[in-house]
Amino acid sequence: MVLSMFEPVHTLPLQISAHQGIPGRRPKPLPMVLDSPHEIARVDASGMLSVVLRLGPMISEAWHAAAGIAPPVARPTAVVVCGMGGSGIGGDLLQVLLAPASPVPVVCVRGDRLPAFVGPDTLVFVCSYSGDTEEALACGDAAVAAGAVPVAVTSGGRLASRARERGHPLVAVPAGLQPRAALPFLLMPLLRVASAAGLARAREADAHEAAGLLSDLANLWNPEVPSAANPAKRLAEALHGTLPVIYSASPGTEPAARRWKTQLNENSKVQAVYGSFPEIAHNEVVGWDGAGDEAPPRSVVVLRDHDDGPVSEGRVEAARSTAFQSARSISDVWSVGSGRLARVFSLILFGDLVSVYLAVLRGVDPTPVAAIDAIKQRRV
Ligand code: PA5
Repeated sequence: MVLSMFEPVHTLPLQISAHQGIPGRRPKPLPMVLDSPHEIARVDASGMLSVVLRLGPMISEAWHAAAGIAPPVARPTAVVVCGMGGSGIGGDLLQVLLAPASPVPVVCVRGDRLPAFVGPDTLVFVCSYSGDTEEALACGDAAVAAGAVPVAVTSGGRLASRARERGHPLVAVPAGLQPRAALPFLLMPLLRVASAAGLARAREADAHEAAGLLSDLANLWNPEVPSAANPAKRLAEALHGTLPVIYSASPGTEPAARRWKTQLNENSKVQAVYGSFPEIAHNEVVGWDGAGDEAPPRSVVVLRDHDDGPVSEGRVEAARSTAFQSARSISDVWSVGSGRLARVFSLILFGDLVSVYLAVLRGVDPTPVAAIDAIKQRRV
């Protein structure tokens, strides 16, 4: 473990700071499922855990795979990232990573229509892991119709063939993964191309830090580390049987909160809620007033970062001692690492692991997403 090379370091990023809830509705103690390699391998039959544990090496691979992709626009006036689900989250991350320095806005499109401002000077990314998602294909065609030259980020499908036919930039993503497991390949090319267009300073050192940190964290949180010493397993146990409510303590880590929510949906097969401070202190906290005996028990997870700022921190502490009193548990998960890329990825890795461990506790294979597949088939 080489965590000490990074500053600041929280060797224990998880604090489950309250266990409350309604008497008589507390969860039964769990059998030691997560400390049984046999049980984990049996439930995780398609091997999602081993893919999640490779996030670090994937960041390096994705960084190098994106070398040499020239931006199709020299001085973009805006960036638009189109993509659904697992292929859309890279755009959210690009948005928060570029926000402190980019001279132009970054807009994420999760649908099949582009904003009217898109034109020849817009840097458009169309991201679809499969390359066959209808919404992404429609955005790609609309971008071309508006005079833009979209950058396709995909493992194949019609998106790749259209890019080749049109002679447009194509970033090839390795095939054979679930879209959500390919996250580094759906972010690093965006960062590198945006950087080449003068919108960001994507440095190899940042990618290197993130890759090394995630490999170290994978050693700390992997299935061989018993629950007593493994915060990802302990949080999965705390969330089991509850509605997970994931809040980022500030907008800078909101994409990580969204990622937690969607990974809990797709890997653990549970409903989950996400939001971001300080905004939720102005509306969603009121919803906690109605969380009476009839409501399902809820567990709050707050994603924290040393750059959250005093306003957001104050809102979190106030909500903790007021609105969240009816939560079964309130857990603080702190980012680790130095650069922003590494810090946000540390939160993502932790959440990905929690979602897989929760799937194991629930006895469901994390990999298949039958409901998504069924809906896509109906839309042919
Ligand atoms: O995680 C998933 O499987 C989904 O959210 C997909 O990413 C989403 O349906 C879009 O498909 P694709 O990533 O192939 O464009």
